[in-house]
Amino acid sequence: MRNRTFKMKIMPVFIGVLLTLAAGIESAAAQNLPPGAVDFEKRCYSCHNINGGDKKGPDLKGLLDRRSKEWLREFIQAPAAMNRKGDADANALFKKFAPEIMPDQPLAPEQIDGILSLIESLTKKGETFIPTGAKLSRAIEAGDIDAGREAFTGKVALNNGGASCIACHNINGVGRFGGGTLGPDLTAVNTKYKDPELISILQNPNFPTMKSVFGAKPLTDEEIVKLFAYFQSAKFANPAAQTQPAVAPLNLWFPAIGFLGLVLSFVTLNRIWKNRLRGVREDLVRSSKK
Ligand code: HEC
Ligand code: HEC
Repeated sequence: MRNRTFKMKIMPVFIGVLLTLAAGIESAAAQNLPPGAVDFEKRCYSCHNINGGDKKGPDLKGLLDRRSKEWLREFIQAPAAMNRKGDADANALFKKFAPEIMPDQPLAPEQIDGILSLIESLTKKGETFIPTGAKLSRAIEAGDIDAGREAFTGKVALNNGGASCIACHNINGVGRFGGGTLGPDLTAVNTKYKDPELISILQNPNFPTMKSVFGAKPLTDEEIVKLFAYFQSAKFANPAAQTQPAVAPLNLWFPAIGFLGLVLSFVTLNRIWKNRLRGVREDLVRSSKK
């Protein structure tokens, strides 16, 4: 009996100790985040993988085997200037990845070194960089897909005043005439990127054109959830787009309307000219009978 009360008393203490230990381990893990990971995720990951293949820019795996630290410090801060200056390696990179251009990255030298050591350690371990911070602020709920479509098309204005996505992007089924073509078609964007990658692009669109529009007018967390839900539904509604993400779907409405117009004008012309032609032909027939 006495033994039992003792157990009941000790139990909460025991659980408390376990929880404290777990929290301790977790915060240690957070502190163990390799140096540079936060910077890399925020500023580079939208264009660069480490050991995951080329994206907008080259895969940075093995970077320190092919470039010196001095070269890297200079290049990362001002890639375009290095290209203009005629640096052979920069010229080759710009040629290979054109028309993409890496924006200048105003980072302190320590930040760059942090990123470089992250790249070096992942390269050595043969690991791929996986972003940690990119999560939706809440679970997707009913209604988010429609709300996402409305945010995309501009039917509902974006909270911070950014331009609506449809001005520059198309998604299959978004409207009869599709969206703009300045930016890539986004029908298959959810297959092109893993979820955290896509979320991190929406949180922090580090592409020059998008940055100029959304840098000072970021999407809100709510808008990101809704747009993400809409992209996911576009993926499911267009399974064909998954297999050919690089090919923009044909918008058949313009050619179809053009073709109809052509047929109509033939019909009309035929009507107008029918009698004259018959007149000539009848004359010919009559004269040959003579
Ligand atoms: C908008 C896309 C974009 C962003 C953001 C970006 N880069 Fe780049 N990066 C490129 C492209 C494209 C190239 C190839 C050169 C070019 O065309 O500008 C490149 C080239 C590089 C290279 C040369 C690679 C090699 O093989 O020598 C390094 C290093 C690099 N980037 C590091 C970074 C770092 C570090 C960051 C973040 C602080 C970053 N980049 C952010 C697009 C980007
Ligand atoms: C002013 C034009 C413009 C607007 C407005 C715009 N974008 Fe973009 N977006 C672009 C361009 C251009 C690119 C391609 C950048 C590149 O390749 O460097 C892009 C790229 C993207 C990508 C990456 C696509 C890929 O295939 O890699 C996503 C995702 C995206 N935009 C989402 C959005 C969303 C969501 C909105 C609305 C909230 C939006 N964009 C509004 C111009 C725009």
